Amino acid sequence: FDHSLILAIETSCDETSASVIRGGKHILSNVVSSQIDVHVRFGGVVPEIASRKHVETITLIMEQAVREAGCSLRDLSAIAVTQGPGLVGALLVGIVAAKSLAMALDIPLIGTHHIAGHIYANELVHEMNYPCMALVVSGGHTELVLLESEGEFRVVGRTRDDAVGEAYDKVARALQLPYPGGPHIDKLAAGAENAIELPRAWLEPDSYDFSFSGLKSAVLAVINQTRMKGLELDEAALARGFQESVIDVLVTKALRAVRQYGAKQLLLCGGVAANRGLRTALTSRCEAEGIELLIPPGGLCTDNAAMIGAAAHLKLKRSQFSNLDMKADPGLPL
Ligand code: KG4
Ligand code: ZN
Repeated sequence: FDHSLILAIETSCDETSASVIRGGKHILSNVVSSQIDVHVRFGGVVPEIASRKHVETITLIMEQAVREAGCSLRDLSAIAVTQGPGLVGALLVGIVAAKSLAMALDIPLIGTHHIAGHIYANELVHEMNYPCMALVVSGGHTELVLLESEGEFRVVGRTRDDAVGEAYDKVARALQLPYPGGPHIDKLAAGAENAIELPRAWLEPDSYDFSFSGLKSAVLAVINQTRMKGLELDEAALARGFQESVIDVLVTKALRAVRQYGAKQLLLCGGVAANRGLRTALTSRCEAEGIELLIPPGGLCTDNAAMIGAAAHLKLKRSQFSNLDMKADPGLPL
């Protein structure tokens, strides 16, 4: 039986998080400290401030994670940490903390890919079956990833410009909604009676890539034209039109990819997986087409260290450890 205990650390953006995972499956603790309050007045994450806040909190968060797990540092089998992608200064804070602890305890260090974490968040609550297709939608990423077998990632589609979450946040900003805007747009759209029809970027017929900057510009154009004409903007209808366009493209491409690659499951992951409209649309389309859909619960969709522990466990099983001179890599390939 696998009794391994991984202490995982995640500091790639604006969440300082630490978690203890037993046997790659059981979450003993998952402490997440969000910095949103300090970034909200700037309308987005300020990298310099993010790094400083991580430095202030990381030790406390790690201590809390170990305490809540009811274990001691001596019990740990390995230290896992997000190596990239992410903000380089933010990643560095987690990496330095992880290295120090790995060195002091003389246990392995496991550098982990942030997106592998988002995908393997599913393994904490479901059984993954291969081949499977992951639709990763977050503030920094929009990717379709094929997993032919455990830990084998192949990116079959990605955004060519803005990530979905980024588009949500920019549209929200244009509507003067607070950062992060995704949940606000989601709520506005859910309450809308009408939808303003907006374009869909399908790209080439066989492409699994995405593009959201055109849609974002279309939204901004509607806002500007309405203002210039002195009319009142139906913000809810605009939010719904935007969300419908995003969901239509994501769902259509994801299901086409599932069929083409013979995937047994579709996994939805990343912060935007919390979007109710997207969850509902994917659930009903997958049901209609007999495709098994896995979605982690909300707290495991947004950035957290438990997902990093889950992905790191694959590497622990294979003894794929990192050296103590491991560097933060903002562009780390999956
Ligand atoms: O995965 P995540 O926590 O951080 C990154 O790795 O980027 O994702 C954050 C993103 C933000 O852009 C946020 O606006 C978006 O997820 N988000 C949502 C919703 N909840 C969070 N977008 C749409 N609808 C939501 N309900
Ligand atoms: Zn993320």
